Amino acid sequence: MFDLIIRNANLLDGRQGIDLGLKGAKITAIEKSIAATGGKEIDATGRLVSPPFCDPHFHMDATLSLGMPRMNVSGTLLEGIALWGELRPLLTKEALIERALRYCDLAVSQGLLYIRSHVDTSDPRLVTAEALLEVKEKVAPYIDLQLVAFPQDGYYRAPDGVRSLERALDMGVGIVGGIPHFERTMEDGTCSVEALCRIAADRGLPVDMHCDETDDPMSRHIETLAAQTVRFGLEGRVAGSHLTSMHSMDNYYVSKLIPLIAEAEINVIPNPLINIMLQGRHDTYPKRRGMTRVRELMAAGVNVSFGHDCVMDPWYSMGSGDMLEVAHMAIHVAQMAGIEDKRKIFDAITVNSAKTMGLEGYGLEIGCNANLIVLQAADVTEALRLKPNRLFVIKAGKVIARTAPRIGELFLGGRPTSIDMAKDYLPQTPQR
Ligand code: FE2
Repeated sequence: MFDLIIRNANLLDGRQGIDLGLKGAKITAIEKSIAATGGKEIDATGRLVSPPFCDPHFHMDATLSLGMPRMNVSGTLLEGIALWGELRPLLTKEALIERALRYCDLAVSQGLLYIRSHVDTSDPRLVTAEALLEVKEKVAPYIDLQLVAFPQDGYYRAPDGVRSLERALDMGVGIVGGIPHFERTMEDGTCSVEALCRIAADRGLPVDMHCDETDDPMSRHIETLAAQTVRFGLEGRVAGSHLTSMHSMDNYYVSKLIPLIAEAEINVIPNPLINIMLQGRHDTYPKRRGMTRVRELMAAGVNVSFGHDCVMDPWYSMGSGDMLEVAHMAIHVAQMAGIEDKRKIFDAITVNSAKTMGLEGYGLEIGCNANLIVLQAADVTEALRLKPNRLFVIKAGKVIARTAPRIGELFLGGRPTSIDMAKDYLPQTPQR
């Protein structure tokens, strides 16, 4: 009756000791106790079962390139862009694919099965697009990879930027990117937003723009993006990534801006690790945190999801492919540590991201895709605090990754210890 039953699971809504029945690639039962036996079973032992994590903002062409061809000495965003410009002519398709696949393996082990990656289109060779389109095919059995045509050096500012972006879309990159704050002038930025939204409308594609990733409170391209979204009828299909200038904007202006973002149904994607690392670099003290206004946007009904953005690349020397690390930082930077706050933060790396990415069949409901993870934590609060191991990662009803439990959960009273769960992994005592 079922191919796989996961018993004794805790769910995100607080229900405990629940069984989930999977048949083929779908979830077909969620009950207090499934009577059927016979198929494979996993005892979740009172651990949290969640849909997989989704990362709506990443750079897979740059990941794991740390130190190539040199380190970012200042650690700033602008030196990172310059450094990437030095590395770009040296990139080969084979090396890009190798690094991307290594990252995808890491992602799967962390229960991260949906990734939206920007693909730099600034180099007219478009070796980045070629490589990541191939990676998308290769990883399709275990990761849904979406690709954004991203004019890193500026849509108008880079030589051939306009043509290269269109060519990347022709090759099959499916989302229109942009970087209006990096164009030569505010006016060029404004024009780029209009031009890129027009392309998306003409081609029937979504938009995902790096937007206002700066401390400059006058960087207001998100206002233009919201207006053009409505003008071209793109509501719900547009994402504004970063929006860090909102942190520095005048409160009165923001009181007008947030309703515009909500009206245009813009999906907002802060990148907490990168924002706290790169923003405020020109400040002495007080020093701005730089992440956009997460609490206020959520309160206005805006869909907010968090991205990892970078892992070991010219902009960020750290990162682990773990969306719980991203969420952990978000709690701190946004100062959202209440119980309800934490639930909203967890949503921002799961259901909200799925909405941003337009995923179908995502979630833990009957009829949803049988994609889920078992975490070594009892609930959302514990998962966010401990960033625990992903004990099982399940895709289309099959276990595709396992990680041994950490030993020594002394703080988890009343439940089977990790040692009990770890017995499958420990070497057997030799028989004498
Ligand atoms: Fe980015």
